[in-house]
Amino acid sequence: MKHTIGMWMYQNSGGDKIEQKIVSLLKDRDIDVETGLNLRYAVAKNDKLMINNLILNDLDLFFSYNAGEQTQYQVYLYKILDKLMPTINSYGAFELTEDKFQTSFILKKHGVPCTDFRLCHRDDAKYLKKFIHDWQKIVYKPVDGWGGVGLTKIENEETLDVLMPFLNQADLRFFYVEKFINYDNTDFRVDIVDGEFVSCYGRKAPKDSWKTNITSGGTVFLREADDKLVQTAKKAALATGLDIAGVDIIYDRDKEEYVVLEVNGIPAFATPAQEKMGLNFNEKKIELIVNLIDRKVKG
Ligand SMILES: Nc1ncnc2c1ncn2[C@@H]1O[C@H](COP(=O)(O)OP(=O)(O)O)[C@@H](O)[C@H]1O
Ligand SMILES: [Mg+2]
Repeated sequence: MKHTIGMWMYQNSGGDKIEQKIVSLLKDRDIDVETGLNLRYAVAKNDKLMINNLILNDLDLFFSYNAGEQTQYQVYLYKILDKLMPTINSYGAFELTEDKFQTSFILKKHGVPCTDFRLCHRDDAKYLKKFIHDWQKIVYKPVDGWGGVGLTKIENEETLDVLMPFLNQADLRFFYVEKFINYDNTDFRVDIVDGEFVSCYGRKAPKDSWKTNITSGGTVFLREADDKLVQTAKKAALATGLDIAGVDIIYDRDKEEYVVLEVNGIPAFATPAQEKMGLNFNEKKIELIVNLIDRKVKG
């Protein structure tokens, strides 16, 4: 029987080329692909989801891989699509890892080393002082942020007092804070697909910064993974249920162990510029993804 999957993949930074390779490898396995399925253009007609004349219900699987263009409407339909067919990543795992508190909670529960954290209601800001007292330095994080935006290091009660009026004004539901980890301002990005190790590279924070995000001025560098690092990343992927995971890890100099900072459900492939630098994992990642789709579709 002929199978057809739907795909929505980012097209910038070499994503279009990656998509073509995936489509062609799937074709070799008798799996057709409807590409460019942007749920922004989907319409629900009773129990059918349509994009133009295509009935999405008829697809055998949906591959959603476009972090940059994701809106609430698309995510809303992703959720119902997940009830019709296998999705990659599964909606549940995707939704979990979009939220830092929910992710940290599950990681801790599964014994994956990650930073200590606290969550409290906005009216319980008094606890924040206690957290600073316990840990000296804390990081305030929006639970649904990205790119290092909105992360604030709070090193003493005075900083907190200055910050509080702004936080109160921001109309937050709650406060999520983490213990600030003593680390060397570099991190590891480890990609795991279908439980297998794909790749590792590093990012380095710019001078005088503690955030390694590229959008905060961080730079990518080649970096090997040791066994402990790979095991930590695999545990994080398993705990969150992501088929495709990009696990961000730093090395805690006080505890002398790797700690998972966050798990990304749509980790980018190496860009053409990064490939020139020597990040050569795209082929392997594509192969593992194709195997995964093949198994889920035919299984
Ligand atoms: N608890 C922490 N201790 C020390 N540094 C941190 C901590 N949390 C985040 N960072 C730094 O801030 C960066 C962004 O944090 P992260 O939780 O990954 O949020 P984002 O989703 O915005 O990337 C990390 O890459 C790391 O460099
Ligand atoms: Mg991050």
